[in-house]
Parts: sequence; C-alpha cells; structure tokens
Amino acid sequence: MYLFSKNRYYIQFMSEENWIEVGSTDSIEEEDLIRFDHQDKTFCVYKLTDGFYATDGICTHEAVHLEDGLVMDDEIECPMHQGIFNIKSGEALSPPACEDLKTYPVKVDNDKIFIKID
Ligand code: FES
Repeated sequence: MYLFSKNRYYIQFMSEENWIEVGSTDSIEEEDLIRFDHQDKTFCVYKLTDGFYATDGICTHEAVHLEDGLVMDDEIECPMHQGIFNIKSGEALSPPACEDLKTYPVKVDNDKIFIKID
C-alpha cells in the first residue's frame, strides 16, 4: 500500500513536471496555430473551434516545419508538398505524408495554454 501510494505520488509529480506553458489563449487566432520550441523539439499548438490541440511541429514526410501550413477545419496541410494530417489524431490523411504526427495533451489554466510533453 505504501509503495503504491508512493509510486502514485511520483507519477502525479512527474505529470505536473511535464506540463509546459506555451502561451496565452489569445496568442492564437481561431483555426490557426503557433510554433512552440522546447529544448530540442518543435511543436505546433492549434486553436480549433472546439479547443486547443498540439502536434509535433515537423512534417513526418520530410523535415519541414508545419508552422506555415494551412489549417482547415481539423486538418493541417504541410506547406512543402501539401500532405494533410488530422490535427486531433495526428493521422496522415493525404500523400505524400504517410506517417502519423505525434499528438500531445493540452490543457488551459487561467488563460494559459499548457502541453504535456513526455
Ligand atoms: S514535407 Fe510535408 S508533405 Fe512533404
């Protein structure tokens, strides 16, 4: 019981550590995105009609930033070869993109956006 409680606390502590502040909720226009760099990784954080979402910021087809991509409903179109991904699931929907984007949990607290990085 003690170990379970101790491990549970540890997991919760680690979870809090992995929430990274991205910016304020008004820093992203609806149906748009911002690029967010943290350590050696790049992310895209999106504001859709039903909330905020986050994916890796680099296209899985080639190493191209998605920050200049076109957001259409729940999809992001890569600016290089127009591969399309579902923002919510990361699923690659249109060639030449065939490998899914990684997605990340997002929360809003006091008008600040946080993403959970593992
Ligand atoms: S680099 Fe994104 S589809 Fe080719």
